Amino acid sequence: MNLLATARRAGRELRRRMPEFAGSRQMDLLAEKLVLEVLQEAGEFFVLTEESGAVMLGNEPEHIAVVDPVDGSYNAMRGVPFYALSIGFADYSPEARLLDVHTGYVLNLHTGDEFEAEAGRGARLNRRRIACRRTELERSCIVAYCTGSSLPRLEKLLSSAKRVRTFGSAALELCHLAKGDFQAFVDLRGYLRNVDVAASLRIVQEAGGSVSVDSVGLSRIERLSVLACCSGMEEELRRLLQP
Ligand code: IPD
Ligand code: CA
Repeated sequence: MNLLATARRAGRELRRRMPEFAGSRQMDLLAEKLVLEVLQEAGEFFVLTEESGAVMLGNEPEHIAVVDPVDGSYNAMRGVPFYALSIGFADYSPEARLLDVHTGYVLNLHTGDEFEAEAGRGARLNRRRIACRRTELERSCIVAYCTGSSLPRLEKLLSSAKRVRTFGSAALELCHLAKGDFQAFVDLRGYLRNVDVAASLRIVQEAGGSVSVDSVGLSRIERLSVLACCSGMEEELRRLLQP
């Protein structure tokens, strides 16, 4: 089965219906239903998806599909043009872990930009190769989620970067790190879910980035912290994150 072709089909369908869905309170559920229909037509999957959790499509799935139908739901509901469909694929096993996702697809549902990656084959934006772009931390732009108890740990890092941004779709923010627009993504709230970042973490790794996450599985929704950055910056970031 061509997994990326299946993800693109789901993306096309969802993008077509998004104007209608985004006006509804049921947006996430409607989007999820549509993606599940496309997956079901394509074959057998164990699906982990944001709204319904674990869903078995068929009896003997070869693949896991980790789906966030609309990452950045708040943005989509409010008409802020930064939200995405995210689908990651792993080989089926009840023991599969987040970083076993080998194929990632993230579609910016507003612009139509498609970020994709397959393990060992690089990362692409609209079929063109992309790569992380390292800079000195003092010249960098980083994405950081700074709320609640994670704020004190972030203070040194936030004041060392040149620019700090938060856009509200972790999947897309990580893809822009992979494209070289940002140098790091930091969310230590322990609040992100495996479905939010499954696809985009593969995209960052294939773009030459480095990813460090809590070890979570793919059999149910689990929460985690994420530190992702351009290779070579990990040590400096970790040092600044020391209490
Ligand atoms: C949210 C986005 C956001 C992150 C939140 C997630 P959702 O996903 O990824 O960037 O900060 O923790 O819940 O709810 O819009 O699918
Ligand atoms: Ca999400």
